[in-house]
Amino acid sequence: MIDNKLIEKYNKALPRYTSYPPATSFHSEFSSDDYIKSVKASNNQGTKNISLYLHIPFCPRLCLYCGCTTLITRKEEMIKSYLEALKKEIVMLSQWIDLSRPVTQIHWGGGTPNALSAEQIGEIMDLISSIFKIEKNCEIAIECNPAHLTLSYLDSLFDMGFNRISLGIQDFNQKVLEAAHRDTSKLPIEELSSYIRNHSAGVNYDFIYGLPHQSPASFSETIKQALALKPDRIVTFSYAHVPWVKPHQSLLEKEGLPGAEEKMAMFKSAYDLITKSGEYDAIGLDHFSRKDDSLSIALRSGKLHRNFQGYCTRETTGQVYAFGMSAISQLYNSYAQNDKNIENYIRMINSGKPATVKGYCISEDEMIIKEVIERLMCNNKLLWSELAEQFETSVGRIKAVCGYSPEKMQQYIDDGLLIMDDNSLNITGPGRFTIRNIVAELDPKLNSGGKQFSKSI
Ligand SMILES: C[S@@+](CC[C@H](N)C(=O)[O-])C[C@H]1O[C@@H](n2cnc3c(N)ncnc32)[C@H](O)[C@@H]1O
Ligand code: SF4
Repeated sequence: MIDNKLIEKYNKALPRYTSYPPATSFHSEFSSDDYIKSVKASNNQGTKNISLYLHIPFCPRLCLYCGCTTLITRKEEMIKSYLEALKKEIVMLSQWIDLSRPVTQIHWGGGTPNALSAEQIGEIMDLISSIFKIEKNCEIAIECNPAHLTLSYLDSLFDMGFNRISLGIQDFNQKVLEAAHRDTSKLPIEELSSYIRNHSAGVNYDFIYGLPHQSPASFSETIKQALALKPDRIVTFSYAHVPWVKPHQSLLEKEGLPGAEEKMAMFKSAYDLITKSGEYDAIGLDHFSRKDDSLSIALRSGKLHRNFQGYCTRETTGQVYAFGMSAISQLYNSYAQNDKNIENYIRMINSGKPATVKGYCISEDEMIIKEVIERLMCNNKLLWSELAEQFETSVGRIKAVCGYSPEKMQQYIDDGLLIMDDNSLNITGPGRFTIRNIVAELDPKLNSGGKQFSKSI
């Protein structure tokens, strides 16, 4: 574990590094024509596997902590036109993708995808199956708000092939949910979970710490309840308070947000409870998976990956082709993001072009930095010689590209957060808490854009 003095020292505003370069580097010179070129090129670069991401922005009610790209609406007309555009986008993109490539992952994210009717989801799944080659073991996942989830709805999802259901529980404490304007689960989480498990699907739980009325003791209670239900995966998100981007979050300040120390204590106690249960491995900083889960197996063999949708294994990870407003595609050496405005998104798709508004072409040097950061964030270690082999270059060049110097890393060694020799970096147990700080030292482009980020811890 890490002590409070170190928390204070390292709690800085830094990128989350869910991608490299971070999404804050994307720029508008990257056009829809660039995206088309990237998609065509992606057929002959990197992995053949395809991941499809579908963004459903709609939510019936706004949770005050929400940092996602959402639209609070129940307007059927708007939802219908959006889904029509989504279908058009899938058909449009498919003309540039080599359709003999296998789809190994389909992820429905949001917003609240389960705010759509089962028929609406079914129409899109049918379209996808009619176009793409879906691998037999394809992971088909959906993020669900349990406030809108019924057993018959789950039955429809299983019939469509969904095999991983994420439940956004956030906290079992009613007072915390109420202050955040979050509706409670329609059915007991226990009932939903056993129903999902009885249908051979994986069940994930999402929690957030750092909200009003949460304390280390209350959050521990929530985690204990979760452990008793034995989900396959647990995520404990650190609440990202960014009211300059999401003004509705400032309403939570009136309720009183826990301070950094208290927040860290919540994380620590949750981390201890989950890892000391002996049933879960910590995946990165805040994800946990049961020891027999594919993520744990990938962690042990150093083959864990990460994309905007979370952690994944080498088997399921593909290049990500993303559909819907604000959705981010992650191809071999480029990122492309769609317009965040629903009207613009629909208009652009209806005009017969991708709705790309910004993106990024990753340079050769940045591909190296990306790999360094991903290895450390996923597998907590790296061997410089392995990277040199992968990129067919020297260790010296790899180190130079990411601005590595032993002096910069010394403070982390002195603080017991990092163990290092000429050929390796190993993040210690306490070092996982400062992983964003450590990888930021290997990001020479950081601070060049004057952007604001959430705190690292
Ligand atoms: C896009 S939501 C999708 C699930 C669904 N909308 C729900 O809320 O249950 C995915 C997860 O992001 C997390 N999240 C949302 N806003 C956040 C924030 N400001 N900071 C950290 N995590 C956040 C929540 O835990 C949520 O379950
Ligand atoms: S349901 Fe999920 S996506 Fe929608 S507002 Fe709440 S946290 Fe955000």
